[in-house]
Amino acid sequence: MGWHGCASIPAVSVARHVVWIGAKIKGADMPTRPYVIDELISAKAIAARIEELSREIAEEFESTDKLVVVGLLRGSFVFIADLVRELDLPIEVDFLEASSYGDAMESSREVRILKDLRGAIEGRDVLVVEDIVDTGHTLNHVTKLLQSRKPARLKSIALLDKPSRREVDFRSDWVGFEIPDEFVVGYGIDFAQRNRNLPFIGKVRFT
Ligand code: IMP
Ligand code: MG
Repeated sequence: MGWHGCASIPAVSVARHVVWIGAKIKGADMPTRPYVIDELISAKAIAARIEELSREIAEEFESTDKLVVVGLLRGSFVFIADLVRELDLPIEVDFLEASSYGDAMESSREVRILKDLRGAIEGRDVLVVEDIVDTGHTLNHVTKLLQSRKPARLKSIALLDKPSRREVDFRSDWVGFEIPDEFVVGYGIDFAQRNRNLPFIGKVRFT
């Protein structure tokens, strides 16, 4: 797969990955510790980057009869919505839900498919859309699974990438922004299901 580069953002201070102690506890028992959210990437910067990425994707899939854009639920729902509206191509949208995190801040490394695609992708052009590549386990697993279904072309895009956290050798074809080892929320991305509705990407800072 080709590497189409990404934009870097300035590194922010305190680069510690916070591991939530109650990581195995789900739902209501999750965060009670207060935190604030510091803006890391503005809504404007995200929109500008999506415009650039859409142009590159449209060029790559110029000859497609129809591109199946596959959003990984739930974190990519805002990104995919903005991305497809900038994409000047005939597309279809499908969703797949894979889980490796539960409600925790640390990956469990075991990827499960919670909801599969509705449509077949054999012989089709496919673009997988993810919010963040962290350890790499999720996209590595999902792209292998989809590749086994024999698509004509399979590419992936991630809005964010934390290269310093990688545990498996995986690289997304397009990356919006490389970020340091911080836990981020907003623009679809959650902390224990919260903060998905922030229009920007912010980092979680416990107070
Ligand atoms: P990976 O399998 O470790 O690459 O994890 C990818 C998934 O973990 C992403 O799709 C996110 O759902 C989640 N994730 C990773 N980093 C963060 C973060 O900083 N905030 C919220 N979710 C995250
Ligand atoms: Mg996710």
